[in-house]
Amino acid sequence: MKRYKIVILPGDGIGPEVMESALSVLDVISRKYNFKIDIIHETAGGESIDQYGEPITDSVLQSCVDSDAVLLGAVGGAKWDSLPQEKKPEKGLLSLRKLLGLYSNLRPAKIFKSLIDASSLKSEVIIDCDIMVVRELTGGIYFGTPRGFDEEKGFNTLTYEKFEVERISKVAFEIAKTRKKKVVSVDKSNVLDSSQFWRNVVHKVHENYTDIHLSNMYVDNAAMQLVQNPKQFDVIVTQNLFGDILSDITAMITGSLGMLPSASIGDKHAMYEPVHGTAPEIQGKNKANPIAMISSVGMMLEHTMKNFDASNDIHNAIESVLEMGFRTPDIYTDGCQKVNNSKLTSEIINFLEY
Ligand code: IPM
Ligand code: MN
Repeated sequence: MKRYKIVILPGDGIGPEVMESALSVLDVISRKYNFKIDIIHETAGGESIDQYGEPITDSVLQSCVDSDAVLLGAVGGAKWDSLPQEKKPEKGLLSLRKLLGLYSNLRPAKIFKSLIDASSLKSEVIIDCDIMVVRELTGGIYFGTPRGFDEEKGFNTLTYEKFEVERISKVAFEIAKTRKKKVVSVDKSNVLDSSQFWRNVVHKVHENYTDIHLSNMYVDNAAMQLVQNPKQFDVIVTQNLFGDILSDITAMITGSLGMLPSASIGDKHAMYEPVHGTAPEIQGKNKANPIAMISSVGMMLEHTMKNFDASNDIHNAIESVLEMGFRTPDIYTDGCQKVNNSKLTSEIINFLEY
């Protein structure tokens, strides 16, 4: 029987609640598809700051290095906002991405038909939308040095090395091969040198992918196009910061930030986490939408375990439960049944066990 070591980092806010849901789904799935999961519970983010004085400890980092995959809930919260950058909960997540070399962040935004009315955008604009944002995750302005601020100025550095742009473009082109074969590279090359460089490198890599249609878009225009006519997009490839921003927009196309999963993949390691944050305003109320976290487990089944049947099973279970009308408050519309996280999760599990 196949066996996987999975490190769990529930984090802060609603992180632990949605993680609990995801783990109960994973438990059912592992029995159904006959593999064994060894869960290693660890701590990261604000919770780790409170216990150990740092957002992630060396021993937790090592445990993640030794795992087959990491599942992360969400990190951050007002309580730790005034700490210096290096000590914030978010720094734990960033260190983990960097150490594990998770340079490609896949954020799929596919609209479920039954949720078409939950989006703030008109249904004719979003129907059949299926976008994959490929976000560079270990470079750019998130990590560039020098960085800092004092009384008089604040500064960050945006640098991209050739190998970083090459490898993320390859990921985007390879993914496009399995989809509609269209890649839009988003940059700001009318202003930024690093973007002009990005564009040149993407085009060079594209020479090996003549069957893929490549176009460029400035990031401001991309933000507009995403709400005006999102259906034009198939794969979007972009730098770390632009990907962070644009993927929150693509999430809203699907109805709620609570719907979007992500996979962060490197050459040796992988981590799966929802795109949403810690949502402190609903923490502890059992109101959180567990779908993004459960779908992230689905992405783990696909990318780490290569168990496509199990991954499809999760996707179908989510789709069916939505079709049956169950909704957490964030995706509720008239005529549906408003349920909490536990109820939605148990309905998904019922479907999987059926
Ligand atoms: C995300 C989050 C993170 C990011 C934060 C929590 C560091 O917003 O994964 O989108 O900016 O990458
Ligand atoms: Mn974000």
